[in-house]
Amino acid sequence: MVLGRQSFGVPPAIPGGRPCYVATAPVEGAFVTPTIRLARPLARGGMGSVWLAEHLGLGAPVAVKFMSETTLESRSARDLFQQEAAALARIRSPHVVQVFDFGITPGNLPFIVMELLEGETLQDRIERYGRLSPRLTVEIVRQVGVALSRAHQLGIVHRDIKPENVFLVESGGGPFVKVLDFGIASEVGAATDDVVGTPHFMAPEQMAGASVGPTADVWSLGVVAYYCLSGRLPFAGRSLGSISASARHGAAPLGGFLSEPMSGFERWIAGALEPDPFFRYADACAALDALARLLDGTPLELETAPRRRSAERTPSPERDGTLVRRRLAQRRLASRLSGTFALGLAAAFAVFVGWTRPKEALAAARPVLDWVAAAEAHATTWLE
Ligand SMILES: Nc1ncnc2c1ncn2[C@@H]1O[C@H](COP(=O)(O)OP(=O)(O)OP(=O)(O)O)[C@@H](O)[C@H]1O
Ligand SMILES: [Mg+2]
Repeated sequence: MVLGRQSFGVPPAIPGGRPCYVATAPVEGAFVTPTIRLARPLARGGMGSVWLAEHLGLGAPVAVKFMSETTLESRSARDLFQQEAAALARIRSPHVVQVFDFGITPGNLPFIVMELLEGETLQDRIERYGRLSPRLTVEIVRQVGVALSRAHQLGIVHRDIKPENVFLVESGGGPFVKVLDFGIASEVGAATDDVVGTPHFMAPEQMAGASVGPTADVWSLGVVAYYCLSGRLPFAGRSLGSISASARHGAAPLGGFLSEPMSGFERWIAGALEPDPFFRYADACAALDALARLLDGTPLELETAPRRRSAERTPSPERDGTLVRRRLAQRRLASRLSGTFALGLAAAFAVFVGWTRPKEALAAARPVLDWVAAAEAHATTWLE
């Protein structure tokens, strides 16, 4: 399909035959490169603006993202913007928006040229139609998970997974997900100076300003799933502190929003929303693995998420349950052994006393035997 100037409603941009280039701010009709001309703004985000443009050489529409003029002077903001383009180019997943070019205008304004997506963001969908069905939620979570798996394999953490950054492209057979906005993505374990991200979707460790790993994206995906199903945020609050406190207390049950066959999905979400990253799915790949088992109807108790490094082992809640049971069994065994040892000690004492002073033997042994009986009773009560 060839889209001419008419279809964009763009005013002529070549007064006197000389193209007018974008300098420090994008304007309608201005050229970004000799072949890309701006049509109109599509959206303005916190980090910049996204424009509809025409690629004159290809006769096709493209999207151009510009860095915000307000952060142009910041070296770190410029680095992040360039890193976003590089991350998009490296990931090469069908579920991540495709990047065509990166450049800087003559006015020193960085830009990224991308495929133009047609559809709406997940946020817009939920605002228009309300909460989603469990089936659609699972499908969206699965596709975002595929995009994140690829990023995590490359050592990239998105750090800002939220419904505004999940785009639903119109396609005949249901929505096709494209993950957007790697604007604050970082390398795994990279040190961070500031708390960056969107508080209601941020993992507790991210809110605390710690360096984050793939488990932070798993948390955000869990929040997105909860939000899609219920239309509500799992962790409310007006400040970072109150959201963080709410996250530590855990989310309200989702039971009412899930029919019985899908109730395992709630357990998957609980696994993604473990406050301690150690107990969360290790990365998007492990989270998808658990989700696939859920869809196959396999009980999640059998879930064994692949571990990347033993030092970073992050058991799922199901695995955590196994650990708790194993520790209880160990305690029982220790209690039995100590009970047997105490009985043996008491018997040896009684034999010794009975042999030397038979008359006082019974009186002397009674408190010891009483103590052993009380200790046994206490241990049994504690283990119940
Ligand atoms: N390739 C694209 N095609 C169509 N629309 C897009 C495209 N990329 C982004 N958008 C639209 O622009 C919005 C902002 O994009 P993006 O999230 O990348 O920018 P941002 O400035 O980093 O936003 P924020 O800081 O608010 O998250 C998206 O929510 C989406 O509506
Ligand atoms: Mg965004």
